[in-house]
Amino acid sequence: MAGATELSARLIESLADAGALTPDWRPAFKAVPRHRFVPDTVWIEDGDRLVPVRRADDEAAWLELCYANEARITQVDDGVPAEPGQVGHEITSSASRPGVVASMLAALDAEPGLNVLEIGTGTGWNAALLAERLGAGRVTSVEVDPVLADRARHVLRNAGHQVTVTTGDGVLGHPERGPFDRVIATVAADRVPPAWAAQTRPGGRVLVPWATDFHNGALVSFTVNRDATMRGRIVGNVAFMRLRDQRGKRPRLARDVREVSNARRSFTEPHPYDVVGEYDVSLAVGLKVPRCKLVVQHQDDGAYTVWLVDPWSGSWASLEVEPGAEKFPVRQSGDRDLWQEVEDAYHWWDDLDRPTADRWGLTVTPQDQHVWLDAEANRIDR
Ligand SMILES: C[S@@+](CC[C@H](N)C(=O)[O-])C[C@H]1O[C@@H](n2cnc3c(N)ncnc32)[C@H](O)[C@@H]1O
Repeated sequence: MAGATELSARLIESLADAGALTPDWRPAFKAVPRHRFVPDTVWIEDGDRLVPVRRADDEAAWLELCYANEARITQVDDGVPAEPGQVGHEITSSASRPGVVASMLAALDAEPGLNVLEIGTGTGWNAALLAERLGAGRVTSVEVDPVLADRARHVLRNAGHQVTVTTGDGVLGHPERGPFDRVIATVAADRVPPAWAAQTRPGGRVLVPWATDFHNGALVSFTVNRDATMRGRIVGNVAFMRLRDQRGKRPRLARDVREVSNARRSFTEPHPYDVVGEYDVSLAVGLKVPRCKLVVQHQDDGAYTVWLVDPWSGSWASLEVEPGAEKFPVRQSGDRDLWQEVEDAYHWWDDLDRPTADRWGLTVTPQDQHVWLDAEANRIDR
């Protein structure tokens, strides 16, 4: 049975081999073992339920979970599981995937001595890695959940890291500890908070996982201007939970798919996978189609159903995809023709010559934010 030191060394080696962990961050990963930050109960997905795995029940299994290159769910349902102690439904905090942590730290371009703000303290592991490299008193972290913030403060102090952990809404940043040279959000935003630009020095960097309702996966690296605006481009593919007040709604087919017998029926010819399945296209669809969640249900024979659900209005659409089919049956219900909206967005992206993710940019000002393609003058209407 491998111990923590061996598991940690293996993880570090595999992250370095994959190119996620850069040589400048390697000593920090060695000095800050992940299992010291992961709580004694973590949660794993079991269908649409989240079930606990307790260190006290199986130390070795828990340790393996700590050192797998996977996000670890560390809190469900804001700390009050729907069925106490047994089953949760909503992921509300996690220790991010080590490969993602390493590549975000590399993208942050943070040298020792810089003053950094982290949004979303969670377990405190990322804050500890930052403090290990940047130095004592250089890292401020804001966590909205008071229980998580208290725990992280305690664990960080016990591990000897001088990090200022504040309980509060990270949307507001932390003006008293600024200005910062870098801001790193470890929680996703659809509307990127302007305070993060306002509290960063001109020329500084702000790194944000950016999400839409349809697509959760773009890491944007912003450079801050003198007028407290910031401009950024997509530099990676990461999926994070949302800022608490931007959580939106989770789709639940059992609740959201109603009036099935009255659904409007038609056929569509573009293959649904081409329209929603690839990273670049789903990113573009997300820019154009708000309040639309994607759910895919696979069957054993290779067939699958694509569901589009607007949990706010109750509109939904479904597409049946049989292997080898050339036309696909569509059902749409509610005020919106969700498939039509998604297909129109796909044609819009196709007409633009199918831009890849790295061609999109985002500008955040104190008043609003806008998306552009290739150059800031080329704004996209949303
Ligand atoms: C993916 S976890 C962060 C992982 C963390 N950096 C670590 O090393 O374990 C996201 C965290 O963001 C927190 N969060 C959500 N909304 C927030 C907000 N508005 N302000 C501050 N923290 C927030 C969540 O409570 C959660 O703990």
